[in-house]
Amino acid sequence: MNGPKKRIAILISGRGSNMKSLIEAARRPDFPAEIAVVISNRPEAAGIAWAKDQGIPTLAMDHKHYSDRAHFESQLQSILSASRIDLVCLAGFMRMLTPAFVESWRGRMLNIHPSLLPAFKGLDTHERALAAGVKFTGCTVHLVTPEMDEGPILGQAVVPVLTSDSPDSLAARVLAAEHRLYPGILELFAAGLITINGHKSSSASDVNGLSPQFSPQV
Ligand code: GAR
Repeated sequence: MNGPKKRIAILISGRGSNMKSLIEAARRPDFPAEIAVVISNRPEAAGIAWAKDQGIPTLAMDHKHYSDRAHFESQLQSILSASRIDLVCLAGFMRMLTPAFVESWRGRMLNIHPSLLPAFKGLDTHERALAAGVKFTGCTVHLVTPEMDEGPILGQAVVPVLTSDSPDSLAARVLAAEHRLYPGILELFAAGLITINGHKSSSASDVNGLSPQFSPQV
């Protein structure tokens, strides 16, 4: 590992299973990032209680208590700055961020999305994948840009769609892939092993057996 560990803020809104996979991965002494803070815009988010139990600094910022998005985001920005955050990982964070906020984190904010982007941007990805009859779907870790689900793709994992699938069974299979993909891509990115060129990324793959492509799992 070169240089100090990158300091990560994870932003969540609910269950926090991806957050958990990042926290668990970051326990490895040679992981190039540490989870400095977990922030939820919903105080009741299950993930925030779990993170707190693990001794991770947590913060509930109920967006309903702020007059508008700008007020919420200026508070968030102050906390990220006070926590000396290098990278922000959105993990099921379901609140829209303004273009100004996103721009201020350009190249330093990651998101995980439950489809193979650019297919099925937005919500209800598994319902739409089933309706479209695709034979494979998956998940994507990408850099966040002001256009929703549009930023450079850092890595993807593929899972098969089975004839017997319901949205729930497909979601569970994709979620298991998310839990492998996100820590793997964060590790590569935080170590400086992914290079961004315009809208595309390239990586020094096969470092520690990691690659931005994860194989189909049946
Ligand atoms: C995950 O499936 C994540 O990909 C999705 O929300 C879920 C959060 O689960 N994110 C989005 O749809 C973002 N557009 P988690 O709270 O258990 O990590």
